[in-house]
Amino acid sequence: MLKNDLFLRALKGETVERPPVWMMRQAGRYLPDFMKLKEKYDFFTRCRTPELATEITVMPIHQVGTDAAILFSDILVIPQAMQIEVEMRPGVGPWLPNPIRDKKAVDQVVIPNVYEELNYVLEAIKMTKKELNNEVPLIGFAGSPWTILCYCVQGQGSKNFDKAKEFCFTQPELAHQLLQKITDTTIAYLKAKVEAGVDAVQVFDSWGGMLSPADYQVFSWKYMQQIIDALKDEIPVIAFGKGCWFALDTMAKSGASALGVDWTCSPKNARYLTGGNITLQGNFDPSRLFSPPAEITKMVHQMIYEFGKDKYIVNLGHGILPNIPVENAKAFVDAVKSYKG
Ligand code: CP3
Repeated sequence: MLKNDLFLRALKGETVERPPVWMMRQAGRYLPDFMKLKEKYDFFTRCRTPELATEITVMPIHQVGTDAAILFSDILVIPQAMQIEVEMRPGVGPWLPNPIRDKKAVDQVVIPNVYEELNYVLEAIKMTKKELNNEVPLIGFAGSPWTILCYCVQGQGSKNFDKAKEFCFTQPELAHQLLQKITDTTIAYLKAKVEAGVDAVQVFDSWGGMLSPADYQVFSWKYMQQIIDALKDEIPVIAFGKGCWFALDTMAKSGASALGVDWTCSPKNARYLTGGNITLQGNFDPSRLFSPPAEITKMVHQMIYEFGKDKYIVNLGHGILPNIPVENAKAFVDAVKSYKG
């Protein structure tokens, strides 16, 4: 059905002519057409209007040429659906005016009917699938329960999420209640996304690396594994943990189809830690897209050589930065397409 199924074949571990490529956070940020829409509509209006979400999702497919699309949305639509207020403040980022810090607040968190509260996402998926016209697959996503808890408790972005960690270590029972509510919502949400038509899902554990290896298992991985268990028989699942190289051995045994790796772990080490058999995704330093295009091309070819062309999805090690020139993003994608193994 799909005209370009490289991404899905790499997720299955099949032999491919060249690895597929997409970029985390490719839908928006650095694209001039996105910046124009940003002037007219606030962030959650863009997320909640299927026509706008569709338009933004397909932009990088046409303008940069990636092998997969990722739906324009945000991980924070989940707490919103759980009746936790979330704002996106220009210049500040996520802002939750009533952070969750006690039993009363945890008790008030709702496990919503995702078909009601998040119907706009499901509509955006259906519209985007039509617009993509089977050119490339569509990725759906969610934040990991731990990463969502970070925002719910901290109330905003943070360098160390100290208040989120304090909450977990002083009131672990409450923390686990909240994590379980987020997990149940996320599973229902991702299943609804699968029904709506996404071809794969990625779980972003962006702040997993804030935890020690032991705490990671308890406060993050336990819930990631529940999500993978619930989804893996329906759809390929990609587990991405920023700064979580220490958990790659556990992740490799999880039933996930692929694991995301950031740039602090070498390809060789990532292959070693995961046993060499599972598809890996990553791990170009997003700041390296500031290098001149010729240098980007060389570095990408070297990266593919080190990971190997099979069981590999070329990506950045984290989201693309807002001030990357479009031609440099294009050089990244074109380098993959010109790879001769
Ligand atoms: O390719 C895409 O961009 C798809 C859509 C997408 C967004 N957010 C849109 C967005 C995805 C996949 C996300 C995931 C997300 N959101 C994560 C996990 C990935 C990661 O980068 O670690 C996290 C931690 C968030 C929370 C979040 N949303 C933050 C910290 C911010 C503010 C800072 C920033 O990244 O610009 C957002 C806002 C946001 N989400 C923007 C976009 C395009 C920028 C705000 C705007 O456009 O007005």
